[in-house]
Amino acid sequence: MNRKIIVFDTTLRDGEQVPGAKLNIQQKVEIAQQLKRLNVDIIEAGFPASSAGDFQAVRQIARSVGDSVSITALARAVKSDIDAVYESVKLAQNPLIHIVLGTSNIHVEKKFNRSKEAIMQMGVDAVKYASTLLPNVQYSTEDASRSDFEYLWSTIEAVVKAGATMINVPDTVGYAVPEEFGELIRRINERLKNVNDKVILSVHCHNDLGLATANTLSAVKNGAEKIECTINGLGERAGNASLEEVVMGLKVREGYYNCHTDIDTKELLRTSRLVSHLTGLDVQVNKAITGENAFAHSSGIHQDGLLKDKQVYEIMAPEEVGSDSMELILTARSGRHAFKNAVEKIGFDTSDATDFEQLFEKFLTLADAKKEVYDHDVFYLVTNHRNLDA
Ligand code: KIV
Ligand code: ZN
Repeated sequence: MNRKIIVFDTTLRDGEQVPGAKLNIQQKVEIAQQLKRLNVDIIEAGFPASSAGDFQAVRQIARSVGDSVSITALARAVKSDIDAVYESVKLAQNPLIHIVLGTSNIHVEKKFNRSKEAIMQMGVDAVKYASTLLPNVQYSTEDASRSDFEYLWSTIEAVVKAGATMINVPDTVGYAVPEEFGELIRRINERLKNVNDKVILSVHCHNDLGLATANTLSAVKNGAEKIECTINGLGERAGNASLEEVVMGLKVREGYYNCHTDIDTKELLRTSRLVSHLTGLDVQVNKAITGENAFAHSSGIHQDGLLKDKQVYEIMAPEEVGSDSMELILTARSGRHAFKNAVEKIGFDTSDATDFEQLFEKFLTLADAKKEVYDHDVFYLVTNHRNLDA
């Protein structure tokens, strides 16, 4: 059976924790609209208890894209955080509360200085409370990969009995290696099925050893049904599993994993560029899938092989990730259609007709003055017009 893997994007929460990647509300909404076009299943829009700005951003995202994408936000296992999540996501059609609490000895003893029993009870109480607000509650066992297995499992069992509908197993500090992480997921999955086979098992991997993509794929192979990732692999320290890598890994090796996602992979490059532009964080040139050189072939032997048959040196076509968008130079005569195409190509929404007309007028003024208008000019035109500058 070819399983559907749920894609949970946390660019706007874990990704935004990167130093220097602070986004304003309009920028977050713009990214959320592109994530909707990419067709992710769940958007984690922020951590509303952290600031009034984050709360407002989550609320606006829930209102503007929450009609077809599930919207969630992060809460610690305390009532005030859970209330903030509920108030900010409730306008979405399918809102979800995400609660996080550590399970490793290091977290229980060093971070909380409490007993394991007290921490587990805190998690159970938080889930019970969240379940009175919404039917969908995700529980993340922070630092799961460094936790004692039996305590981790007891926590999972207890929060599922309290009402959690998704269990997320994070490799919070990127410590796990693929075989071991896959085995952890297999063991949890085996027990979870006997407690409640409707609960969704999820993973969230960090990249401290450069293994986030590999660990995520290994988890999928071993039964994970949901993956958490970010665009361009943004996230704390070395980042999170990169959405584009995991999704294309599952697509290119579909026969091996026997799984699929609903991601519109042709939107990957556009999404990557939009996030890079708005966060100001460059994508490394040799980054898999979306780096500038990801489909460039320079050696004579490779070029010769490609000319005979692309499959000789290509495991996926650049078009599959949206890499066929050659830059067209615009002029004052290009017209609305070409301009619209250029705005959409770099990831911006054009559905508001009044806004688009205003943009087009500004484009004509620029084109008259400059004669030739490039993608980067269009980018600055739109960000300026929509007040997307940080
Ligand atoms: O890395 C982590 O453990 C997290 C949790 C909130 C899922 O980001
Ligand atoms: Zn994380």
